Amino acid sequence: MSLLKRIGITHPIIQAPMAGTATPAMAVAVSNAGGLGSVGIGAGDAEAGRKVIRAIREGTDKPFNVNLFVHEPFVSDTARDAAWCKYLAPEFDKYGVAAPSGLRTIYGTLKTDKDMLAMLLEEKPPVVSFHFGLPPPEVTKALKNYGAVLLASATSLEEAKACEAAGVDAVVAQGYEAGGHRGIFNPNGPDDQLSTASLVSLLTKSIGVPVIAAGGIMDGAGINAYLALGAAAAQLGTAFIDTTESAAPPAHRKALKEGGQHTRLVAAISGRPARSVESNWTRLLDQIEKDGVQIAGYPNAYDLAKQLHGAASAKGDQAWGPFWAGQGAPLARQMGAAELVETLLKEMKEVSRAKL
Ligand SMILES: Cc1cc2nc3c(=O)[nH]c(=O)nc-3n(C[C@H](O)[C@H](O)[C@H](O)COP(=O)(O)O)c2cc1C
Repeated sequence: MSLLKRIGITHPIIQAPMAGTATPAMAVAVSNAGGLGSVGIGAGDAEAGRKVIRAIREGTDKPFNVNLFVHEPFVSDTARDAAWCKYLAPEFDKYGVAAPSGLRTIYGTLKTDKDMLAMLLEEKPPVVSFHFGLPPPEVTKALKNYGAVLLASATSLEEAKACEAAGVDAVVAQGYEAGGHRGIFNPNGPDDQLSTASLVSLLTKSIGVPVIAAGGIMDGAGINAYLALGAAAAQLGTAFIDTTESAAPPAHRKALKEGGQHTRLVAAISGRPARSVESNWTRLLDQIEKDGVQIAGYPNAYDLAKQLHGAASAKGDQAWGPFWAGQGAPLARQMGAAELVETLLKEMKEVSRAKL
């Protein structure tokens, strides 16, 4: 059975789960338009996730995707956290705010979060996707038992093979150009930085489950290109940041156009590599390396970044914003999410016709 049939959608378009940016309204609009709408609930607790799932169900009876973070549980390192706070204290000073002296682990991981699993088994979202790794086999089994279609991000052939072995229904091939957090399982290990095109070509020939292309896809021609390479569908994140239903603040939307040509992968914001528009964070990267300072671990570093952004934006400075975006950022279009799906479909047909 094709992946689209299996999920129960009409079009090979997946709106990427984007914690903090994708909303129930966005997922509803995309799912009702025949694509797969998604939400990221990994940055909240089980009850917040339940509310999001119920809000989507109020707007659609079509399939939708709920995304979880599946990183290794955080290992406490208060000395490292404190050193990171001290390193950035001068930046807090500029806004007249004292830097924190320690950091909190602001959310958990599906590897160990029993409440989150229990909530998923009760609410039964039709599609569940994993980012940063894979949950233990009993979690995957429990989700499959109620009929969930499972997706997982991979940035390399090794990760994709692990996803296949874990029994996922499709692998999201996330290329280096992708916006937001890189789904790499071990952020401290080697990273071959494969582009979306190289990764999709490699995976479609090497694994036995469908491949979903993600990273840098901004229009119908891009979707067609990845379908031609063998992908079963395309997952677009950055393209949806500036839609009406997005939770992205005005500064994030503005940054897509103004700093979007200079995105960089930066680990200093959350403790894991993620692609962001140009900002104080990306500008700090070389200095961090020169100073040899160790960034706090994920997600504790994110606790500090959110506080620094809060202090700066209270003084009207948006330069510390965690404004994720892929390399296609300048091509993001401002319109409703359903209209974007329709526009993508029209472009896919136009490009197909142009080939004749
Ligand atoms: C603002 C933003 C937030 C994201 N949050 C998540 C997330 O919570 N979970 C996830 O699996 N992927 C997340 N991603 C990555 C997307 O799933 C996807 O891989 C990426 O958007 C594809 O690249 P593109 O942004 O160039 O389209 C995020 C991406 C962006 C841009």
